[in-house]
Amino acid sequence: MSERIKQLLQRTPSEEIVKAEGWVRTKRDSKNVCFLEINDGSTLKGIQAVVDKAKFNNDDLLNNITTGASVVAEGMIVHSQGGAQDVELLVSALTLVGDCPQDYPLQKKRHTVEFLREKAHLRARTNLFGAVARVRNTMSYAIHTFFQENGFVYVHTPLITASDCEGAGEQFQVTTLDLENVPKTADGKVDYSKDFFGKMANLTVSGQLEGETYAMALKNIYTFGPTFRAENSNTTRHLAEFWMVEPEMAFCDIDGNMAVAEEFLKFIFKTVLDKNGEDMQFFDSFVQKGVIENLEHVISSPFVHMSYTDAVKILEKENDRFDFPVHWGCDLQSEHEKFLTEEIAKSPVIVTDYPKEIKAFYMKLNEDGKTVRGMDVLVPRLGEIIGGSEREYRLDVLLAKMKELGLRPEDYWWYLELRKYGSVPHSGFGLGFERAIQYVTGVGNIRDVIPYPRYVKSAEF
Ligand code: 4AD
Ligand code: MG
Repeated sequence: MSERIKQLLQRTPSEEIVKAEGWVRTKRDSKNVCFLEINDGSTLKGIQAVVDKAKFNNDDLLNNITTGASVVAEGMIVHSQGGAQDVELLVSALTLVGDCPQDYPLQKKRHTVEFLREKAHLRARTNLFGAVARVRNTMSYAIHTFFQENGFVYVHTPLITASDCEGAGEQFQVTTLDLENVPKTADGKVDYSKDFFGKMANLTVSGQLEGETYAMALKNIYTFGPTFRAENSNTTRHLAEFWMVEPEMAFCDIDGNMAVAEEFLKFIFKTVLDKNGEDMQFFDSFVQKGVIENLEHVISSPFVHMSYTDAVKILEKENDRFDFPVHWGCDLQSEHEKFLTEEIAKSPVIVTDYPKEIKAFYMKLNEDGKTVRGMDVLVPRLGEIIGGSEREYRLDVLLAKMKELGLRPEDYWWYLELRKYGSVPHSGFGLGFERAIQYVTGVGNIRDVIPYPRYVKSAEF
């Protein structure tokens, strides 16, 4: 593999001829030399290539090398005369690989993220999106490292499913039926027996239910993959296609679950700070002031714990400041979650024991008969990034709950059998991967932390 610019920048000057391959970010001319900043995505800052104009004056080469062009520059690594970098490349051979006409949209100037979203196929070539891509990569790596080092088995749960894990009816349907000519049954309903799977099927909203089946055999498992929600929420925190990390642990109660969630988040944050120092400095300077110090603080202090009931007591006193006034039984909105984390705790907060009516069917019912053993991890700026719970492992209680909600037990027969054959207390949670990236980088809109965002009325690229 050829050497990357990141490695070239760490070299000490020598007479050895090295090679830089990449795209020209900027071109600057002085009387005798031309400076090219070449970037290959391995670092934020590219390498400065210094081209002696007298040596390269025989053709139009330098004229044709413009911002965005791809080049190969060879030469020696030397001490840099300028103050902005330690070393630079003194060019002895230069090849223009692909030229780049003047209509290239990423000319040297600050572009808005809205503009760059329309150029998502090119935006990874900017400082911001390059840094996001590298941090996203490190976070994926950290997620696997954390679970692998702790003995969890990575399980690939299906993306196409016939069950609705969250029961919220926010699924995208998967069908091969001819929509112009839908087959009908005698009583006028859609005849799904003619559909590809012989029944109605959807894209999954969560791998949890299938994940639970593997936890009942392997004890600790995790999934990490795309999930899909047809939520009509046009916010800076919602995508129609997002990635979720879902560990599931047998013989584990909600306290064990919360302890893993906290340790897990801190491990990811620390890994990014250790591995992506330059990118994090960039976010700190240009995206979210203080984001590094904030993460360091979060890593070194315990998360605050609070029951839903206590959270509501605190929030009710502030009702005049909220768009949605709070009362016991209501779902917490992001304005409430932000208030708890930003004004009250000034740190991540884990809220537990929510009213059963506002949480999914699988959460374990508490002894009070009113609340469930759910837990959400909330963070400043964003609100919820993790949703999880201890699971209802008692067959009779689970069946009663499903009946209450109008879920058909025969659709979940395999899930229910887990409660029949060697049932055991177990727990898990789901981390919204993009929200975690937003939190780490300070990037305000979730559409800018995934390469190709899918949301209402948008599936370009
Ligand atoms: O709270 P949720 O809905 O929980 C579950 O899906 C559980 N089955 C997880 C589990 O216990 N295994 O979603 C989990 C997280 C949320 O906290 C949020 O961070 C993220 O997924 N999330 C979204 N992220 C982006 N866009 C959306 N539309 C999201 N919906 C949820
Ligand atoms: Mg949730």
